[in-house]
Amino acid sequence: MSAKKTYNVTLIPGDGIGPEVSDATVEILEAAGIAFQWDRQDAGAETAARMGTALPDSVVNSIVKNHVALKGPLATPVGTGYTSANVALRKRLALYANVRPARNLPGVKTPFENVNIVVIRENSEDLYSGIEHVVVPGVVESIKIITEVACTRIARFAFDYAVLHRRKMVTAVHKANIMKLSDGLFLDCCQKVAREYPDIVYNEMIVDNCCMQLVTHPERFDVMVMENLYGDIVSDLVSGLIGGLGLTGSANIGADAIVYEAVHGTAPDIAGKGLANPTALLMSGILMLRQFGEIDAADRIESALYGVFAEGKFLTRDLGGSATTKEFVRAVISAM
Ligand code: NAI
Repeated sequence: MSAKKTYNVTLIPGDGIGPEVSDATVEILEAAGIAFQWDRQDAGAETAARMGTALPDSVVNSIVKNHVALKGPLATPVGTGYTSANVALRKRLALYANVRPARNLPGVKTPFENVNIVVIRENSEDLYSGIEHVVVPGVVESIKIITEVACTRIARFAFDYAVLHRRKMVTAVHKANIMKLSDGLFLDCCQKVAREYPDIVYNEMIVDNCCMQLVTHPERFDVMVMENLYGDIVSDLVSGLIGGLGLTGSANIGADAIVYEAVHGTAPDIAGKGLANPTALLMSGILMLRQFGEIDAADRIESALYGVFAEGKFLTRDLGGSATTKEFVRAVISAM
């Protein structure tokens, strides 16, 4: 019998509830029988206070070596202070595509029943380039950068994703009626790429109409592709359709590395109390197992998780239950 494979993964627990949801996720992934060599790395606000940087080089070096990381939330000061370590990580590792699938979970009641959407967000440019300056006191300019290279790359990623996952439709989301040059370029690139995929239905939707349609007819959407800012907002909206940020996994993908992360924040209001719901990071861990080809383990965890949701006895407080993080983890593991 061949030796069992061990996966080398950088683990970034992060701030606030990060260490609690990371411990929970690691426990469940290992209980599924997969062997990991975790390289634990510190990043975020607590690290910044201690080391003077929220993203030490050792974190980036570890991911470059392992090509894969599992990351909890990192706190970022609002308005002032250092730039987001999340954004810095995406830039330094050229993680150009953010993928966030959202599908109804059994037992989690929401106003909608047929949500099965994947939001693909361009991660590297747009208003997130961070180029801002004061023109004169009281007037500030933020620059939106859109390039043909990045738009074509994300469009191709979205169509390839649709083919690989047997999806039928890609919707490009934009505001080209107002930003005729930048969003116009994005649409041109999507249209060119779409022509290479005649089996996938391609359509376009203006972002404001898209938000309205998502909260009235989410079943009309399949794969969605968009620039960075729209993707940031719309992907949270889509998570909300299935019960919130605590339930959605996410992957930031580049040519040489993938960072799987929980999309929620550090939840300072419940940090350290053992109440956090680890599902989002666990969902990201399941995406990671699928990428590794560990389909059986991924399926087993997913169906155990769905079983716990459907039974409804061990839900955490954010889902209306009273279970602690540890009780939830025990329930998932025993359902496996
Ligand atoms: P948040 O997501 O931390 O909290 C919003 C609400 O959701 C809170 O009531 C919180 O208790 C709840 N919540 C979030 N995750 C939960 C979970 N797993 N289980 C149970 N309840 C959960 O958003 P907020 O308050 O806007 O941000 C707090 C900090 O997190 C900020 O410093 C922000 O910069 C950072 N943040 C980091 C992100 C990342 O690293 N990817 C993403 C979003 C925010």
